[in-house]
Amino acid sequence: MCGIVGILGTHEVAPALVEALRRLEYRGYDSAGIATVNEGRLDRRRAVGKLVNLSDLLVHDPLAGKSGIGHTRWATHGAPTEGNAHPHRSGPVAVVHNGIVENYKDLRAELARHGLTPHTDTDTETIAMLAQHHLDTGMAPVEAAFATIDKLEGAFALAFLFDGEEDLMVGARKGSPLAVGHGDGEMYLGSDAIALAPMTNRITYLEEGDRAVLTRTGATIRDAEGRAVTREVRTISMDAARVDKGGHKHFMAKEIAEQPSVLSDTLNAYLTQDGIALPGPGIDFAALDRLTITACGTAYLAGFTAKYWFEQIARLPVDVDVASEFRYREPPIPPRTAALFISQSGETADTLAALRYCRDKATALYGVVNVPESSIARESDLALPIHAGVEIGVASTKAFTCQLTVLLLLALKAAEQRGHLTPEARDKVLAQLRALPGVLNTALGRDQHIEAVAQELAEARDILFLGRGAMYPLAHEGALKLKEISYIHAEAYASGELKHGPIALIDQHVPVVVLAPRDGLFEKTVSNMQEVMARGGKVVLITDAAGAESAGAEAWKVIQMPEVPDLLAPILYALPAQLLAYHTAVAKGTDVDQPRNLAKSVTVE
Ligand code: F6R
Repeated sequence: MCGIVGILGTHEVAPALVEALRRLEYRGYDSAGIATVNEGRLDRRRAVGKLVNLSDLLVHDPLAGKSGIGHTRWATHGAPTEGNAHPHRSGPVAVVHNGIVENYKDLRAELARHGLTPHTDTDTETIAMLAQHHLDTGMAPVEAAFATIDKLEGAFALAFLFDGEEDLMVGARKGSPLAVGHGDGEMYLGSDAIALAPMTNRITYLEEGDRAVLTRTGATIRDAEGRAVTREVRTISMDAARVDKGGHKHFMAKEIAEQPSVLSDTLNAYLTQDGIALPGPGIDFAALDRLTITACGTAYLAGFTAKYWFEQIARLPVDVDVASEFRYREPPIPPRTAALFISQSGETADTLAALRYCRDKATALYGVVNVPESSIARESDLALPIHAGVEIGVASTKAFTCQLTVLLLLALKAAEQRGHLTPEARDKVLAQLRALPGVLNTALGRDQHIEAVAQELAEARDILFLGRGAMYPLAHEGALKLKEISYIHAEAYASGELKHGPIALIDQHVPVVVLAPRDGLFEKTVSNMQEVMARGGKVVLITDAAGAESAGAEAWKVIQMPEVPDLLAPILYALPAQLLAYHTAVAKGTDVDQPRNLAKSVTVE
């Protein structure tokens, strides 16, 4: 949520700042801005809307300088106007910020007593004002930045730039990620390594509370207590930092298409000849009485699906909740309960807070993450990477199927350890899993037909999704995906719940997408489908050949998936749900990769 970058360069930095912001735009795209120091003078340019507006502005009104900071915004405090866009400036200080300063009103009141008044609606401006105030009292820039950071409550990743200081940048991290990049005679700051990838692959991830002082010759880092600390410089794989659409029209299309291959990577990381190998010390599921799963959005729906797997095949009771509710409900955590957190970014503020809540209460903390250096990965007792590769599209697709795959492997491991799965039965499922990437490829072959169905769905104002068993969470995922990128109102219900109220919504204008492979629950779902059709409802049935044969004739549209064992169906059926949402959004002409009001990494609560 918001992307920040900083460069102490050897050439003009404006183009490199804009390129870095382009790579960070997935974090927010309400407005963007840069500030530089040129011949000792601090100056800035800002523009509302997508980054392209800032680059256009820079053509007409360039900004010179070899030191600079930049920001792409997802508005929290104050509307997305030019005045509220970052960098924020107060006298000789410019600041970019990702996060929320919770005590900004108190700080404003304090600053007013020193004659400093705000000009924007943002919390961030207060940081620049506070730094200016500290400079006014005679502090040197680094001292002023540190004194400012000490006063901030909330979450932040920050970069400071000072008038008259061409070889100085100060960064800080608390609650929001920040990386230091090491170049040749250049130094960088960025919200993630992807932003810095065109400039360097040598990265230091700052830890919670760290402050970094950068000059062109290097960085000195202090921890929250002010002690000088050494943090590892890692060389990151450039592959991991690739951000191109690979010939696809949208990142989302590319990421949907990548699923067979990334799912193979996930499986390869966890499967050996002897079965399922978890990283590090692994997990002793036999020692657990309960698992509590917490996440947000799509990651939560992966957890919700996993509840069915853990309970059915491993007989392990699972509580699953959205992190924003869990953390404030403060639930008791019974003994012998492990807590598992799922997050693509590994930085979602509510999920991280839920993890911290569980720290001294749960038997162990497990993180199912896509970004191995993320906060959730680092603060978990054991991080379980999903190996989906960088996901840029704001709507999560490949991360979801890779999360599901890791969760299914965990459920199988649990079933084995708890005596509910023989080695033979396990090997059979693992063989089916190894064949799954091929099945996903076949499903992707139905793309054109799904696109044709989507053209018709694009006319609807409301759409319902139904599913039973493990297809129920998937119905939620289908509805979430559709509403977030096509802006069509969509709701999901458990098929059996329809007649307890929602059936009142059914008429010929409300298409109903039914996710129903021909499994043990199929006939029951078909009965619910009949209830919909009896009321004039138009059913899009997503099923397999046997399901289409038995119930397809009555449906308005049928999307036929390849056959797959019941256990694996949620992973496969995610694909038509994603493709339906994607093509509906394209048909409606929305901004698929950057839907309105959203951002990929939600680092505020
Ligand atoms: C929806 C989507 C979001 C995220 C949610 C959690 O397509 O992407 O609902 O799943 O914001 O994000 P992570 O997984 O990064 O914690």
